[in-house]
Amino acid sequence: MTKVLLHPLTVKALKNGHPHITKDQYSDKFPSKERFLIGVTANNNQPICLFLHDPQHKKIKGRVWSFNNFNSNFNSESFLADLSQRIDKAIEKRILLNINKSRDNFYLIFAEADEIPGVFVTHLNDHIFIQIYCFFWRAFEKELIDTLKKSLQNKLSKSFHFHLQYREENKANHKANHSPASNEFLVTEFELKYKIDLSNLKDIGLYTDMASIRQRIIPYLAQTKNLLNLYCYTGAFSLLALKQNVAQVTSVDLSAKYLKILEENYNLNFKSNSNSNSQKHIIINQSVNQMVSTALNAHKKNNLPYDFVIIDPPSCSNDKNKTSSVMQMYQELLPKVVKLIADKGYLLIFVNNHHLSFKEFKSKINAIIAKTNNKVLIEEFKLSQDCPTKESYPEGDYLKGLLFQISIT
Ligand SMILES: C[S@@+](CC[C@H](N)C(=O)[O-])C[C@H]1O[C@@H](n2cnc3c(N)ncnc32)[C@H](O)[C@@H]1O
Repeated sequence: MTKVLLHPLTVKALKNGHPHITKDQYSDKFPSKERFLIGVTANNNQPICLFLHDPQHKKIKGRVWSFNNFNSNFNSESFLADLSQRIDKAIEKRILLNINKSRDNFYLIFAEADEIPGVFVTHLNDHIFIQIYCFFWRAFEKELIDTLKKSLQNKLSKSFHFHLQYREENKANHKANHSPASNEFLVTEFELKYKIDLSNLKDIGLYTDMASIRQRIIPYLAQTKNLLNLYCYTGAFSLLALKQNVAQVTSVDLSAKYLKILEENYNLNFKSNSNSNSQKHIIINQSVNQMVSTALNAHKKNNLPYDFVIIDPPSCSNDKNKTSSVMQMYQELLPKVVKLIADKGYLLIFVNNHHLSFKEFKSKINAIIAKTNNKVLIEEFKLSQDCPTKESYPEGDYLKGLLFQISIT
């Protein structure tokens, strides 16, 4: 196994458990054809990790496979044996969580947090969706899929349709359908059906990583009468609210395309249901700013404030500039939205960004709302259940949510 020198800062990060080796003057010298490398310290050749080499990736040149196995006999065969064990372990973890009792969309493998770096695998009804962020896997694509198929067959006694996609950052750049199957199908979550479309690479129709959070807000929705869902996308929160008998739900999004899917999802679940006649679902195809300004004017005339507002703006996970723009958005939007919330009503806000720590997010949001009203922080939301995170890998801990109860002072 070839040994390569690592940048001292990389060594420091790796010693703290960080799983990546990024582009620098040291990684530029890694032998381009080698798939597995052992990284050593530049000063005394001390081995630090065995890693998967990814010369094709623009930023992440290596992903740790092992921090303690520097066996010189390590080869493709031992790698595949490790891979099989890790896939089995990841799937067993999900089986123990019993998730499939309440939803058939969940992550089976959550990349670095399951020690299968760069590989996300989602279970979507009888489809398996593999998203790969590390081009090392191209050399082992068939083995990865075969091992996964075998493990799924053993552990779930079921066969699936496989879809595979390579991604870099937020771009989807290649897709292969590994078994002839439709790209469009339904998944079920908390007794609701959602349409999934895998031909739509970046936006398949439902954010599986938020499913555990959706479950945790059900008790609050059960007490809600009038929900405002801003940046509603295909309506996961809206449908969940209607299912909890919320009398009025307003869904706002700029994209007519996503709102059309929301209508299809609504029809799938509520069209033939007589209960829903007493419920009202209002869809507004407008920018959030515009809708909120109009609602503020209307609110002055007829007193109909919302008792639950959800704000889940577009993702900005990989972009530092977008971090400041999402906080700027909150700075401008929150004081207005708070005025639309009834006394003791709820405000649930999210940010999808790893550059901002939970502590920073909380203190910035607290500072914004403190100026306007009394509020009590009720719950904090992070990735959980099928989407594990690791303290040593903050990039994987991107989703942050805060639920406040607002009192009018
Ligand atoms: C992260 S998604 C929201 C996910 C959604 N809350 C859910 O639970 O499935 C962000 C959504 O914001 C919408 N969007 C982006 N900019 C917008 C704007 N200025 N006004 C309204 N919607 C916007 C996008 O069309 C997209 O559907």
